[in-house]
Amino acid sequence: MRFELTQEQQLFREMVREFAAKEVAPRAKQVDEEGVFPHETIKKMGELGLMGVAIPPAYGGAGADTVCYAIAMEEIARACASTSTVMTVNNSLVGDLLYRFGSEAQKLRYLVPLAGGRTVACYALSEPGAGSDAAGQQTTVRKDGNVFVLNGTKNFITNALEADFAVVFATVDRGIRAKGVCALIVEKGTPGFTITKVEKKLGIRGSSCCQLLFEECRVPAENLVGEVGQGFKIAMATLDSGRIGVAAQAVGIAQGALDISLGYSMQRVAFEKPIASFQAIQWMIADIATRTEAARLMTYRAAWLKDRGGRYTREASMAKLLASETANFAATKALQIHGGYGYIYDFPAQRLFRDARITEIYEGTSEIQRVVIAQHLLS
Ligand code: CAA
Repeated sequence: MRFELTQEQQLFREMVREFAAKEVAPRAKQVDEEGVFPHETIKKMGELGLMGVAIPPAYGGAGADTVCYAIAMEEIARACASTSTVMTVNNSLVGDLLYRFGSEAQKLRYLVPLAGGRTVACYALSEPGAGSDAAGQQTTVRKDGNVFVLNGTKNFITNALEADFAVVFATVDRGIRAKGVCALIVEKGTPGFTITKVEKKLGIRGSSCCQLLFEECRVPAENLVGEVGQGFKIAMATLDSGRIGVAAQAVGIAQGALDISLGYSMQRVAFEKPIASFQAIQWMIADIATRTEAARLMTYRAAWLKDRGGRYTREASMAKLLASETANFAATKALQIHGGYGYIYDFPAQRLFRDARITEIYEGTSEIQRVVIAQHLLS
């Protein structure tokens, strides 16, 4: 068993860490407070291969492995969780989906610019009445000659406001649940496709979260990904990969919480000593560091399993569960170490605290991860 990163992975980490410190971290406060989408940063990340880390160069990506993807996600999230959310949706929820399930024509038209950071995309699975119960899709799709016609509403769709296209899930027959689901690529500006609401959120404020409406929206038949009825399995297999991305994001947030806890506790003086000299603070720091390391190891292992081929559903869910709960633990402790300063906007602790919260909700709640893990243990 080898625990060290390969030379390529180490170099990749150094490159992303340097980029994140120089280009991402200095903008994190503004991205959060003003709720601005980091267009310029995303463009630069695309040029570095960070918008398609594990996508082969032939399709516009960096051609690195999934461990490099996890490392890169972690480093970007450590600097700015909002920016890493845009990164993970493009890389895993849409890029990986198109790479694994898209036709050659779909890859050339949609994946190549996406992986190069020249476009943004979103993954439209959730609905007002179908969140955890993803097979209960109410959005319908019917074939009409050489087009598919979509009708329905999608909810909480990350990046939708800026997205050039969406991968939309819909059913040909609500009565057959998972077996009726289809995945379709819908371009922005397609008649009948509108954004009806942009949500105001607690955290991850630099990436949009929208409600989408489809009314008799006609999509060319060649935009169907896979076959009619394969959409649920495509959605689930894609979420396996997405959950590695969210796990890595959560590890990055936890590491960010450790960074600020170390920095603040060594310079803040109380009772005539730096507060780092008190055991109450040392124990919190030790717990943050230990849990972060455990989450990192599980995340890298899930990524490594994906690279080896075969199913990694259980390991991705375990990594996401542990890492997201760790991010929330770490951010809560970091805020506590900062005392009153943790609660005000001049210090980053409150941002990490707000940004960490969604990692236990999106791409499957912690409760759903436990269901997936238990199903695999009991089958
Ligand atoms: N890979 C491949 N196939 C899979 C799979 C996977 N990971 N998981 C399930 N399947 C297959 C099953 O094998 C089964 O196939 P057969 O019919 O051939 O046997 C079929 O799919 C149906 O599976 P289940 O019976 O297990 O389906 P279910 O209805 O019980 O649902 C669930 C299971 C785990 C609860 C699932 O619905 C789930 O993961 N829900 C959470 C959805 C989620 O994560 N939503 C987040 C939205 S995305 C988001 O947050 C994006 C964003 O904007 C950031």
